Amino acid sequence: MISILIESTYIQLLIVLVGLIAVLNYFHLTRKRVKLNEPPIVDYRIPMIGHTLRFINDCEKLIVESREKYGEIYSLYIFGELITVVGKDSIGDLYRRENDFDFYSGTDVKLVVKCIFDDAFKNVNKSLKFMKDYFKVNLNNIIDRIEQNVIKGIDIYIGECNEPKVFNDSHEALKNVFAFVAMNLFLGEECGHNEEIFELIKNLISLRYISKYKQVIIKHIKLIIRKRFHEKKKLGDAWIPPTDVLQFFLNDPEIAPDLDPNNVNCNLIADIISIFILAAMSSTSYRASYALYELAKRKEDWLELYQEAQQINEQCNGNFKTCDDLDKMVKLDRFIKETFRLNADLLGLPRQCITDTHTFSNGYQIPSGRMVSVDVLELYRNENFQGPNPNEFNASRHNSPATKLDRNFLLFGHGKHICPGRNYAVTLTKITLHHIMLKYNLRTKFENRVPRNHIGFFIAPARPGDSSIVFEKNN
Ligand code: HEM
Ligand SMILES: *[C@@H]1O[C@H](CO)[C@@H](O)[C@H](O)[C@H]1NC(C)=O
Ligand SMILES: *[C@@H]1O[C@H](CO)[C@@H](O)[C@H](O)[C@H]1NC(C)=O
Ligand SMILES: *[C@@H]1O[C@H](CO)[C@@H](O)[C@H](O)[C@H]1NC(C)=O
Repeated sequence: MISILIESTYIQLLIVLVGLIAVLNYFHLTRKRVKLNEPPIVDYRIPMIGHTLRFINDCEKLIVESREKYGEIYSLYIFGELITVVGKDSIGDLYRRENDFDFYSGTDVKLVVKCIFDDAFKNVNKSLKFMKDYFKVNLNNIIDRIEQNVIKGIDIYIGECNEPKVFNDSHEALKNVFAFVAMNLFLGEECGHNEEIFELIKNLISLRYISKYKQVIIKHIKLIIRKRFHEKKKLGDAWIPPTDVLQFFLNDPEIAPDLDPNNVNCNLIADIISIFILAAMSSTSYRASYALYELAKRKEDWLELYQEAQQINEQCNGNFKTCDDLDKMVKLDRFIKETFRLNADLLGLPRQCITDTHTFSNGYQIPSGRMVSVDVLELYRNENFQGPNPNEFNASRHNSPATKLDRNFLLFGHGKHICPGRNYAVTLTKITLHHIMLKYNLRTKFENRVPRNHIGFFIAPARPGDSSIVFEKNN
């Protein structure tokens, strides 16, 4: 979730805040003399700025060089704060001693959630429980719904492509489809083609939209709630509740105590749904943009994947009703896993140390308040964990599903805070690529480009231009 911060226009606001924090921290750091066996701080020249500029411009090189020079554990000085980067050998520490670290107390996350999603912030435990429960209970019931909306979204936003149609970047081709699915799945089919909601979902991340999100969402859900309550009263037990996120809230007696629309806690619903949107949208569409690009590029894998898609399509009569059908997409799943592996965040599992002193198994110590992050780049490019030629793309490298819990594959985290949306993210990507394969022939506009793109240590969407894809109807 933290990636939403760097990706967004908040960065403008945050840079000012962070600048202030930097100055305060600097004096704080230079004053404090704690005698801990601290990990080495990577050399830097300019006080206060530290590694910030390299971190923003070329984080990958900074991490690789620091690892080569300092080894398994070291600290960087970024935005006025020390961040300790730990290698694969210290990952066990983060999980064995989970209570030494806090996932939420990173200052920037708290700040943004508190200022913007104040109702969710006041009910943070309830908000999280909702998100986790929705995907736990309901994924099987919503497969059909996701698929129908994917098909519609592809029709509208990619189109027929009787003539070859160029999409300037692979992310552009997907983002609309994913937003269309999110609109109908999170806020109800009643949204149909509501442009205002659609634009909000696509752009929630930007400052212009975030300031009015609540008012827009509340306006729409009030209409829908009125309609649903009316039908429920009329039909009684014969009324079949929709399977969307909105209805999931309305089924909760604390949020909707009776069938009176005026008693529904719309503020809380709007906040949590917005957090759903922020957590779900860019994380998934950014990574899926690489999977789509690789699919267009790798002719050698296309044929096998296409045959698998056709077989499944025949078996299911063109429509998935349950997860079992999705589990048959084995080759596509492994293909997606491989693109996610090679196009991931560079550092993962950011946490703040909340005990007085945490001592790692290797003897190094960090004080309370220190941010810690894992060098997942090392993990994803390590031959012992990933098999031979770890820097090469190999569609049959993996022999377990993309969502499988695995300490060597921390894409969705592990432990207490493992991503609750992981099944949804992979399912949505699979269904979308499946239907794209059945409908179009794809090719990349340019040969041998590498569109991989990071902002800080976060993965960004495949680079526009470099990831251009040509869609043509498949006859
Ligand atoms: C490919 C897409 C996605 C990736 C790679 C991803 C990755 C992650 C990671 C690495 C974490 C933190 C784990 C940790 O630090 O221990 C996380 C947490 C989370 N993710 Fe995702 N995620 C994705 C999609 C989604 C979606 C679709 C949703 C749902 C709407 C979602 C909702 C969340 C939430 C609510 C948390 C916080 C969990 C907690 O506080 O315990 N994510 N995700
Ligand atoms: C949320 O849950 C945690 C532990 O599960 C607890 O310590 C905290 O007080 C709860 N917060 C609220 C606002 O209820
Ligand atoms: C890809 O990975 C599989 C499984 O590890 C291996 O058998 C195969 O030789 C690899 N292919 C290439 C081209 O490296
Ligand atoms: C496509 O991408 C190029 C380079 O990024 C850009 O200059 C051009 O304006 C884009 N075209 C469209 C139609 O967006």
